[in-house]
Amino acid sequence: MAKPKFITDRGELEKLAPMLKAPIKRQVFVCTGKSCSAVGGQEVMAEFSRILTEKGLRQGKESKGRNPLGEIVLTECHSIGFCSIGTAVMVYPDGTMYGQVQPEDAAEIVEEHLEKGKVVERLALIKL
Ligand code: FES
Repeated sequence: MAKPKFITDRGELEKLAPMLKAPIKRQVFVCTGKSCSAVGGQEVMAEFSRILTEKGLRQGKESKGRNPLGEIVLTECHSIGFCSIGTAVMVYPDGTMYGQVQPEDAAEIVEEHLEKGKVVERLALIKL
């Protein structure tokens, strides 16, 4: 395996990864592991995607309907240990880990936490 060239030039890095230019405030991870998927993980992910995209908050390629200068990165992930109490949703850099999230909770998490900065206490199981 060839070792990749380590790039130090910020301009070159931004050309290769345009997301570096976005004013990103938070990253949301939604677990779509086996157990979370059994209780709606894919649907929770789809709802976050729909809402964040509609609001223009989801960072991503314009060709995918996302906002290159969006403030939120939405990422699908796998098990984080909440398997029996999914769907797990984590918000960083806040360090908030939500459990038992249902698709209908996505709007509240977006509006209260991501837009207003207020943790949704009824779903928050860990707050760092
Ligand atoms: S499968 Fe989602 S936390 Fe384990």
